[in-house]
Amino acid sequence: MHTARGVSILTIILIIFSSCQHKAWVLPASERHSDPTACFQRDVLPIFISNCAKSGCHDAQSREEGYVLDSYEHIMKKGIVPGNYAASKIYESMLGNTEERMPQDAPPLSSQQLNIIKDWIAAGAVNDSCGAACDSNNTSFAAGIQPLMNLYCTGCHSGSNPSGSLVLTDYASVKAAVQNRNLVHSIRYDAGYIGMPQTGLRLSACEVRQVEKWVDAGMQNN
Ligand code: HEC
Repeated sequence: MHTARGVSILTIILIIFSSCQHKAWVLPASERHSDPTACFQRDVLPIFISNCAKSGCHDAQSREEGYVLDSYEHIMKKGIVPGNYAASKIYESMLGNTEERMPQDAPPLSSQQLNIIKDWIAAGAVNDSCGAACDSNNTSFAAGIQPLMNLYCTGCHSGSNPSGSLVLTDYASVKAAVQNRNLVHSIRYDAGYIGMPQTGLRLSACEVRQVEKWVDAGMQNN
């Protein structure tokens, strides 16, 4: 009798244990974003900085709902479950699967941005950086400069109420910001100017060079 009871208790314990094991969460190939070399510092952090770590939202001062989303250490504090994007509250909130879709009062992230974050979580949410992927000779506006703006700037500098009353969403607005709003000084963090992006993250030296070269070449709309 005792043995039978022992066995059934053991069985129950085994069932409980096995049901608690985390399943490895592997993204189907069709859901992976197009750039398999995406990494945290270059691809993921700028999305958080530009769209989430804003004043009144999730910068170090505002910390809405206790979330500060301006660095790897802070982002990992809560809401990201490495390997499991479905259990990651931060990602789910971006899809609108929680009460309020993030970023609030702003357009949703693009499906490409969402896939980058999803894929990064699925791959273990590690703090990696991918070395020199920047080409400072890529001075085409469409292929070089606007993508930099989209990555680092437009989360704050777009929409109906842009930061600093400045949008950086197209050729004309970026050119005007260089001419009238010290854009190059800002991204260089030159003394006496307002350093941009505002929080935690800077363009790499190569990316700054890329913008400088585009400006030196006469800010072509190419
Ligand atoms: C997290 C939000 C945020 C991000 C990201 C951001 N900015 Fe800003 N930006 C601001 C705010 C806020 C101001 C207004 C600052 C002020 O007037 O004190 C501003 C002002 C500026 C100005 C005007 C400076 C001046 O002297 O008038 C420029 C130029 C600028 N940003 C460029 C950029 C560029 C380029 C990027 C991307 C590389 C960027 N910003 C990313 C929030 C942001």
